[in-house]
Amino acid sequence: MNFAVKSASFFNSIAAGYDELLAADSWSRGAFYELVKERATPGSLVVDFGCGTGIDASWYASQGMDVVACDVSSGMLAQLEKRCEAEIARGQVTPFLGDYPSLLEMTLPRQARLVVSNFAVLSLIPDLRPTFAAFSNYLEPGGYVVVSILNPFYWKYLRGRWWWSSLLPSIKARCQRIQGLQHDTYRYFTSGVDAAAAPHFQRVGTAGVDIIIRPEEQRGDWSNPRTLRGKLEKSLWQAPVVRSLGQFMLLVYRKCE
Ligand SMILES: C[S@@+](CC[C@H](N)C(=O)[O-])C[C@H]1O[C@@H](n2cnc3c(N)ncnc32)[C@H](O)[C@@H]1O
Repeated sequence: MNFAVKSASFFNSIAAGYDELLAADSWSRGAFYELVKERATPGSLVVDFGCGTGIDASWYASQGMDVVACDVSSGMLAQLEKRCEAEIARGQVTPFLGDYPSLLEMTLPRQARLVVSNFAVLSLIPDLRPTFAAFSNYLEPGGYVVVSILNPFYWKYLRGRWWWSSLLPSIKARCQRIQGLQHDTYRYFTSGVDAAAAPHFQRVGTAGVDIIIRPEEQRGDWSNPRTLRGKLEKSLWQAPVVRSLGQFMLLVYRKCE
């Protein structure tokens, strides 16, 4: 899986500075946590797919959840092991490092309630069908997947000529592929993710974030927005049309019984 090897190598190279890079994104992280909290309770097992440096894993553990935190990047997982040292010692966070195929075949201590994948991990994967098949295997009947992916229809992209010239092939593929030097990025249409998930899952939630807030507001507290833009975004994040315009799409799938 060349694409995952490339991603691992890229994230190894930025692992030490990753938290600093993402420090300004507590707003969208807070939105993601809201969707997680609605579906998992203390004691639930959560699989954090593409867990990175463990920012989320440590939060899930603080909420009483058990976490299997997996990633393809040894550098990112080493940061997680530092951050979550105490949680790992008491068995609440279990790190798993492996190549992409082995991440799809992990043996879990029990069936999970939730699979989460935050900050566009799935936007690094060219075919999501095996990914969702693995998620289905991890989950108990009625379990959930919560993902945050890059949105091809983020309104700021629509101002670029390149966006319009890539539109036709993207419509066919239900995904806009952006070729990069270090790795490619796949901005899936919601319908493209739905199709990959379809044999096992039904989408039950859709939201958007980073729609109208300014970069300096991204450090804001989702649970208590202080600016008018923040309040407006939070009140409209699940509204049809508006939710389709944010930088990130948040999608929730429920495993079919
Ligand atoms: C943008 S970071 C997000 C990390 C973390 N989820 C967060 O919220 O901060 C993307 C992560 O996905 C991991 N990753 C990349 N390709 C992957 C793949 N094919 N399978 C699993 N993880 C992958 C990277 O190593 C990196 O840690």
